Amino acid sequence: MEKKELLYEGKAKRVYCTTDKNTVWLEYKDSATAFNGEKKAQIAGKGRLNNEITSLLFSKLAESGIQSHFIRKISENEQLVQKVDIIPLEVIVRNVAAGSFSRRLGVEEGQKLKRTLIEFCLKDDELGDPLITDDHIDILGIATDSEVASLKERALEVNKALSALFEEIGVQLVDFKLEFGKDEAGNILLADEVSPDTCRLWDISTNEKLDKDVFRRDLGNLTKAYETILERLGGRTHV
Ligand code: C5P
Repeated sequence: MEKKELLYEGKAKRVYCTTDKNTVWLEYKDSATAFNGEKKAQIAGKGRLNNEITSLLFSKLAESGIQSHFIRKISENEQLVQKVDIIPLEVIVRNVAAGSFSRRLGVEEGQKLKRTLIEFCLKDDELGDPLITDDHIDILGIATDSEVASLKERALEVNKALSALFEEIGVQLVDFKLEFGKDEAGNILLADEVSPDTCRLWDISTNEKLDKDVFRRDLGNLTKAYETILERLGGRTHV
C-alpha cells in the first residue's frame, strides 16, 4: 500500500489517497485546536498519542463487535482506514453534565444525567457546528429517519462498550463525540477518531481531567494526561 496525494487536511489529521481506492491513509498531527479553531497550539507527541489511543480503542471496539473504518496502525502517527463519505454530523453522547451542555442549560458540571443523552451537531466550521434536531437533519436531507435511529443505536452501543472499558482503568467516560461515514455500498461505519481529543475522561477517584479540557482550560500538561490514558489502556507510552 502506498501513500498518494493529499485528499483533505483537517484540524487534527491529514487524509491521503492510497493505491487502493477503498483505503485512505490518516496522519495524526501535533496540532491542538479548541473553540472552533480560535485557540491553537503545536504539542509535540499529541499526534502519536491520539493515533495510539484511537487504534487501541477501535481494536477493542471491534472485539466487542463494533466495526469501524479502522484497518491498522502503520506508524507512530499514521493509520490505514476504510474510505467512507463522512456524514456531516457530530454525534455527541453524554453521561454526565459538562461542557456546552452545562453552559447552555445551566446544569452544574459533574451531575450524572438520569439517562444517556445523544445530541447531533451539524459539522460546519463556518456555522460553529450548531446543535440540530432530528427534524433539521431530515429537512436538510442530511440523513433519513432510519439512519438517524441507526446512528443513535450505534452511539449507545459504543457508549456501553467504551464506558465499561474506561471504568476498568479507573476513568469515567463523561461525554464524547463520534462521526460516522458511508462506505461504497452505503453501509454506515464508525469513523474519525476516539481519543482524549474527542472524549471527556475524568479520573474516577480524583476527578482529574485526562482529556482536551486540559488544553481548553489551561489545566496543565496535555501530553501527560494523554499518556496516562494510553498507559492505563495498556498501550506503549514512550517511543
Ligand atoms: O463542547 P461539548 O460539551 O459540546 O463537547 C461534548 C463532547 O464532544 C466532548 O467530549 C468534546 O471533546 C467532544 N467534541 C469534539 N469535537 C467537537 C465538539 C465536541 O470532539 N467539535
